[in-house]
Amino acid sequence: MRLFLDTASIEEIRTVNAWGVLGGVTTNPTLVAREGLDPDEVWKEILTEVKGDVSLEVTDLDADAMVEQGRRLASMGPNAIVKVPMTPDGLTAASRLHAESIRVNVTLVFSAAQAILAAEAGAYCVSPFLGRLDDVASDGIDVLRTICDLYAVQGYDTKVLAASLRHPMHVVESALAGADIATMPFDVFTKLVKHPLTDLGLDRFLADWQGLRTELDGEASA
Ligand code: E4P
Repeated sequence: MRLFLDTASIEEIRTVNAWGVLGGVTTNPTLVAREGLDPDEVWKEILTEVKGDVSLEVTDLDADAMVEQGRRLASMGPNAIVKVPMTPDGLTAASRLHAESIRVNVTLVFSAAQAILAAEAGAYCVSPFLGRLDDVASDGIDVLRTICDLYAVQGYDTKVLAASLRHPMHVVESALAGADIATMPFDVFTKLVKHPLTDLGLDRFLADWQGLRTELDGEASA
């Protein structure tokens, strides 16, 4: 399972990219708006910084306008993926962009039924939102598992991108369910690294090492 950052912050992207584990980036209009900069500049910088796929979301609502915007976004870089919402117009745009060999991420997916539609429209990937399902007392992981299972049964090529992940166990359970990609905010990515026993263990190793150095230095100067 590839690990993506769900952000439009170039600082966050550079930090995780330096760890050598960043598979790609997903953005959405909220995340781009949060940067307070020209969206085109933000997208181009991310596309250049990241080797893997970067999802850029359309903001028009009707199919013709989405296709137009999608073509423009796709032309920004070979790693650009056009994100369209799970609406009738979004499906129309997805299938038309797919026919032009433009890769599409169908977003705002909350059910297995919607995931079937995304696959039939030729989406490159589908984004079920786990955290937002959990927020309304549904089971996000259960929906993700169903989507992964039915894609396997049907032999769909569409990749499953687990989105709206809120904590490390969402990431672990997405991997177990068979998701191809997991996208998460910077704080969740950081939490994947941390474990209190790692910190304690490292402190202990370094203290013991320092003790040995002090002992040897003492012997040498005696
Ligand atoms: C995915 O592509 C979305 O940008 C994202 O995961 C939404 O997550 P949120 O529910 O934390 O806003």
